[in-house]
Amino acid sequence: MRKRMEEHFAETPAVYHKKAKTLAVMSGKGGVGKSNVSLNTALAFIDKGKKVLLIDLDVGMGNIDILLGRQGRYTIMDVLNQQMPFHRALSTGPKGISYISGGTGLDTMFELNREKWAFFLKELSAVLSHFDYVLFDMGAGLSKDQLPFALSADDILIVTTPEPTSIMDAYSAIKHLALNGRELKLKVIVNRCISQKDGISAYTRLSNTVTAFLQQQLEYAGTIPEDSLVSKAVVEQQPFLIKHPRSKLSRAVYLLADSLLEAGTAKKEGSRSFIDKLSSFLRRGNAT
Ligand SMILES: Nc1ncnc2c1ncn2[C@@H]1O[C@H](COP(=O)(O)OP(=O)(O)O)[C@@H](O)[C@H]1O
Ligand SMILES: [Mg+2]
Repeated sequence: MRKRMEEHFAETPAVYHKKAKTLAVMSGKGGVGKSNVSLNTALAFIDKGKKVLLIDLDVGMGNIDILLGRQGRYTIMDVLNQQMPFHRALSTGPKGISYISGGTGLDTMFELNREKWAFFLKELSAVLSHFDYVLFDMGAGLSKDQLPFALSADDILIVTTPEPTSIMDAYSAIKHLALNGRELKLKVIVNRCISQKDGISAYTRLSNTVTAFLQQQLEYAGTIPEDSLVSKAVVEQQPFLIKHPRSKLSRAVYLLADSLLEAGTAKKEGSRSFIDKLSSFLRRGNAT
């Protein structure tokens, strides 16, 4: 039985042969705008002709459903526990975005057995092959369950605000990632900027510190202005990119999307796939 499961695990990466680029959106501190940035960036990708899946991994605080004013019927836990096919668990939102929430109990992910993980990975792999981009909206900081997802993603997008506390927390999160992973592609989004200058100077401070102390390179992805349209959108449960596509705020998100898309979907020759990396993290970290 054990041998069969191991074969199943070994096979999993081969199923993944498509193009989806995986982006993990994370932060040090909570409340910096990860969910709003993930959702609106995902919608901007769709406007640029991409097929996008948004996976909410923010346990307990997950709120993509709420931001969309809709209730997804299923969560990732249905795929993990009830072994529901992943594609059946997805919901569709505005502009045809596919999304799924993490649901409650995601924090017990690591207590899952090998069989459930094998099923999950196989399903995730199949689902990935239907999308161009998959965004993971992560929780604040990095829990044990989320770390493998972040470390396996093609790009890690770190959201911070220009506040020194937020920058410091972003630094700590990057340190945690750098200690656990290799060849990380880290991109920084500075949200809630009074001016673009403000955002770039915050990025420069963070980047200099990370280079000096962690010998890790960061890339600048973009800045997003402070704008009351964000909280309005949250209250109205309608993404600002849909309601106010021509606002300065939305224009900044389209620029951010452009810069992320420009980086391309092409993978480096020989670089391992998301599923490949995730399954080896999971194999190491758990499964009884
Ligand atoms: N660019 C912004 N301008 C103004 N307020 C913002 C902006 N981004 C986020 N906020 C505020 O921060 C709150 C938290 O945002 P959210 O995306 O839920 O953060 P996180 O997912 O990081 O916890 C929003 O409800 C909004 O009130
Ligand atoms: Mg959030």
